[in-house]
Amino acid sequence: MNNNARQTMRNIAFEKHPLVRVGYISCGGRAGGHVSDVLAIDGTQITALCDLSEAHLERAKTKITEKGQPEPTCYHGPEAWREMLDQPDIDLVYISTPWDLHVPQAIAAMEAGKHCAVEVPVAFTLDECWQLIYTSEKTRKHCIILENCCYGYEEMLLKSMAHGGLLGTLTHAECAYIHDLRSLLLTDSSEGLWRRFPHVTRNGNLYPTHGLGPIAQSLKIGSDDQFDFLVSVSSREASLTEYRDANMPNDSPKRAENYQCGDMNVSIIKTKLGRSIVLQHDVVTPRPYDRICLLAGTKGTFRDYPPRLFLDGRDSHDWLSADDYAELKTQWEDPLWTNMGELAKNRGGHGGMDFLMNYQLITAMQNGLAPEMDVYDATLWSAPGPLSEESVKNGSAPIKFPDFLGGESKA
Ligand SMILES: NC(=O)c1ccc[n+]([C@@H]2O[C@H](COP(=O)([O-])OP(=O)(O)OC[C@H]3O[C@@H](n4cnc5c(N)ncnc54)[C@H](O)[C@@H]3O)[C@@H](O)[C@H]2O)c1
Repeated sequence: MNNNARQTMRNIAFEKHPLVRVGYISCGGRAGGHVSDVLAIDGTQITALCDLSEAHLERAKTKITEKGQPEPTCYHGPEAWREMLDQPDIDLVYISTPWDLHVPQAIAAMEAGKHCAVEVPVAFTLDECWQLIYTSEKTRKHCIILENCCYGYEEMLLKSMAHGGLLGTLTHAECAYIHDLRSLLLTDSSEGLWRRFPHVTRNGNLYPTHGLGPIAQSLKIGSDDQFDFLVSVSSREASLTEYRDANMPNDSPKRAENYQCGDMNVSIIKTKLGRSIVLQHDVVTPRPYDRICLLAGTKGTFRDYPPRLFLDGRDSHDWLSADDYAELKTQWEDPLWTNMGELAKNRGGHGGMDFLMNYQLITAMQNGLAPEMDVYDATLWSAPGPLSEESVKNGSAPIKFPDFLGGESKA
């Protein structure tokens, strides 16, 4: 598509769908939660399922029929998703497949006239990012990123504090995906079947969106500010190799794998308004889970894991006391959590954030609202993957972000 011919999909409302008809490409670990969440929302029907595994299909189908819905049409096999996309009674396609399938499946879904909601990261080359944007703009179908961390209690609280001015002029953020996945990466089922291979071929931030998505929303990236450039450094690789050697039998074919991805990747993003964002990725070091979620401004600083706040004018080296923090929390809590937090927490799914994300998406379609996360968020938050690889390959050189919004943001 010629750049001049572009028509934005930002703030474009869905057509109203009193009944949202949903199809799933993948019924694996992640998709199981999405199926349960959607079934719990009135005004939805799951009409189609597709997976390689008959057992996964059967598990999802049982959930649907036990809920009293008609049996969905099931598609089975590596290319069966193409056939599923020809089924007319699907408004929204959830895509929760291994990473390399996200983009072809999302493009085909939009071209078949369906909105799509895609797991993270949505894309891992810049070319793929542009393909998604052009397809969404051309077909007028939304490509939503399923970034559940944007609906976490603390992330939404932080956004409310940041937008409400409690932290003053925002200057700096730090975020991460730090999660010891060594055992999962080396299993012979679920994500072990595919998630280790990018560690053989890529060196950079393989999973940027959980940390970056919520911070981008707090900083209003894509409207008031914009990512400008990124520099990236990867540490040496050691943990996955040592773990593999200590735990896999001598004749395991995994012993022939040569991992390229550094244990820790640190990227620094500069925004057009001059803010700095430190973004980390480490899925192999033995250490506690951490997304950091730090935001600093001229009047205070928030940091998660555990959540804490510092406000200017307090004569102390310490964060706010638990009581003071609790009081501010009630004052700044996001209304979505105030109104639906208990229900969401009882449903589970990463502490309730998964249900809130799915609820906001489905009800936006029912009520004819714009989605809260669109193809520009999907590509802006996924882009540090390829940009960090490029920077690492070139001696940590600064790499510019593409202008995915075509000059639409203020910065
Ligand atoms: N947002 C989160 O918190 C979160 C958590 C876990 C995983 N994820 C993301 O979800 C996605 C899936 O991860 P998962 O943990 O469910 O993986 P998984 O391995 O458990 O499931 C993948 C499923 O895809 C199916 N599949 C593979 N190729 C297919 C094809 N050609 N057609 C149809 N189905 C196919 C597999 O049979 C399997 O059932 C990944 O993108 C991952 O990064 C996100």
